[in-house]
Amino acid sequence: MYDGINLDKIDISGQPPENEPERQYYFMAKARAYVKAERERLGRPLMSEVVTFGCQMNARDSEKLAGILQQVGYELTEDENADFVIFNTCTVRDNANQRVYGRLGELNGYKRRNPEMKIALCGCMMQEPEVIEKLKKSYRFVDLIFGTHNIFKFAELLCATFETEGMIIDIWKDTDKIVEDLPVERKYPFKSGINIMFGCNNFCSYCIVPYVRGRERSREPKDIIREIEQLVADGVVEIMLLGQNVNSYGKNLDKPITFAQLLREVEKIEGLQRIRFMTSHPKDLSDELIQVMKESKKICRHLHLPLQSGSTRILQQMNRRYTREQYLELAQRIRREIPDIAITTDIIVGFPGETLEDLEQTIDMVREVKYDNAFTFIYSKRTGTPAAAMENQVPEEQVKEGFDRLLKVVQETAREQAAKHQGKIMEALIEEVNESTPGLVTGRLSNNMIVHVPGNEILVGKLVQVSLDECHGFYYIGRVV
Ligand code: 5AD
Ligand code: SF4
Repeated sequence: MYDGINLDKIDISGQPPENEPERQYYFMAKARAYVKAERERLGRPLMSEVVTFGCQMNARDSEKLAGILQQVGYELTEDENADFVIFNTCTVRDNANQRVYGRLGELNGYKRRNPEMKIALCGCMMQEPEVIEKLKKSYRFVDLIFGTHNIFKFAELLCATFETEGMIIDIWKDTDKIVEDLPVERKYPFKSGINIMFGCNNFCSYCIVPYVRGRERSREPKDIIREIEQLVADGVVEIMLLGQNVNSYGKNLDKPITFAQLLREVEKIEGLQRIRFMTSHPKDLSDELIQVMKESKKICRHLHLPLQSGSTRILQQMNRRYTREQYLELAQRIRREIPDIAITTDIIVGFPGETLEDLEQTIDMVREVKYDNAFTFIYSKRTGTPAAAMENQVPEEQVKEGFDRLLKVVQETAREQAAKHQGKIMEALIEEVNESTPGLVTGRLSNNMIVHVPGNEILVGKLVQVSLDECHGFYYIGRVV
């Protein structure tokens, strides 16, 4: 485990070791010397900021970046006017890319005033060759660029920024490597994400993830369990197991195991109170998983089950490998077996060739499944994906109209679902002090719903029973009982 490592004892006068993670420990020790020298030269602490775009996977990666920055002697801040700023980027939709370019412009302003400033970019967007070309041409002030496959090398690359002038670019096409035991700086002391697998093999026709995150690789169950045990010993009560498609976890291990079997092992960890996971592909969701969820005392009553479209024709074009009927049957089976479960979903509007009739079917599906919540996205054309080459891209006006109609129905069903809990007493994990209303704290129910209750910071990180007094659409105002 990383906890036992003393960086000050590492000899940095010789060559770096070949093996990981020892090689990165060596570079962390070296970076620490650079940061110390810089701190002494400037006579002030060095500040760093990690900015996350995108999903829970990226949020977890950012905690790893922050862990290294902190270990090598930077102080972490949420101010972009810092000595080291790294953007951990997302590219699932084009607007994520546009946001990065916009914010890079702002960083350039800061860098002009503080020439010592280092700017780094990593994450999914960096795996796209066109992006690198654009950065090389128009964003010369960026110091370091790396991708998703070599994020474990951050300490080594950080060192390089102290040793070389100009833009450092290191992008790998793919990897079969998983490096364990690097430091992590968690955002919340009481809850944590845990990667159980990386990459995706599904190649949904609209999605860029398989191209930028590579093929599926599962972590060894013993490494996962050990990490969770360590987190629990450190005060974590809720974990979220992370993977692009957790239902295919373990298939490529030397000793294959199923996701449901992994969950059974995780459940046994004493002191752990809540287990969440994300994301489930409907085509791989097993009866075994439903059974394990049903029997579990710790697995939260929430399943995120991306639908993407309610039309079998579009699903086929999307390469989702299930029909409308199969999805509906699955959702109904889950609701039957686990009646108090909340089901949430992702839906894309405006996939090439989508007609009003297809959209009608999606809307109808929302009503049938009664989603507790749904994330709705406008289709975004991603270069290199099969859908980008499809004809019949849907006119913008039609997409917008369809999106608004869908959103209305999604909100209606979410409200109806939320209202069903009126007056109940449920367990909430209090996550933070409410920033907008003094005197309130915000908690999350097992079914992922938000509840605000009177209280102060003493409650943060605690599991408490709350009564759900007033339903406000998607959240409740309640009180601790
Ligand atoms: N356009 C719009 N939404 C997309 N998603 C993935 N790729 C695209 C795209 N090209 C959505 C899917 C997925 C979620 C994480 O992002 O709904 O489930
Ligand atoms: Fe993208 Fe489909 Fe993989 Fe999800 S399952 S990451 S939507 S390719």
